[in-house]
Amino acid sequence: MTGIAQTETATPHVLPPLPYADDALDPVISANTLRYHHAKHHQGYVENLNKLIAGTPFAGLSLEKLITATTGQADKVAIFNNAAQAWNHSFYWRSLRPKGGGVPPAALKTMIEASFDNVDACRKELATAATTQFGSGWAWLVLDAGKLKVVKTGNAETPLTSGMTPLLTMDVWEHAYYLDYQNRRADYVNAVLDKLVNWGFATENLG
Ligand SMILES: [Fe+2]
Repeated sequence: MTGIAQTETATPHVLPPLPYADDALDPVISANTLRYHHAKHHQGYVENLNKLIAGTPFAGLSLEKLITATTGQADKVAIFNNAAQAWNHSFYWRSLRPKGGGVPPAALKTMIEASFDNVDACRKELATAATTQFGSGWAWLVLDAGKLKVVKTGNAETPLTSGMTPLLTMDVWEHAYYLDYQNRRADYVNAVLDKLVNWGFATENLG
């Protein structure tokens, strides 16, 4: 077994608890939004995945292994979508924290300055990626060949399948913000970047 497999729960996959209380991100993300997003949407992906893989050779594989084993395969798209959405959402919860935002830890700040000139330029690229992703998807800060980059992915797609190391993500599916912001995605994105983004989590993911 690899290190990744050892850290994963065996089938059935389970919904990880939120790393904070469901009202901890209020008012940027309300408790109502967080409860629906976690207990309905994220839970739904986990339940669908368990049904899809029960009794198949995919049962018992970690989310990461499921994602890499099914990416790009038309007949496995349902497994891919639910595994990737389960992984992406766990990563998203940890990309946020109460009283987030502010100045990144020194190790990350130095890398941001080498890749984007300064933290504000990185923040702007993240905001642009998040607001210009057409339809549902995700905006990411990633480590790619020793350099930091901002990328966006559609629907359930994840940078894991491109060999990049995700550092943090923002969910820009409408279910992430519609109850609080309706169609104003830019207001959600800017509030998250200013008040919730967890630079410490991104720093941990540098490895
Ligand atoms: Fe979501």
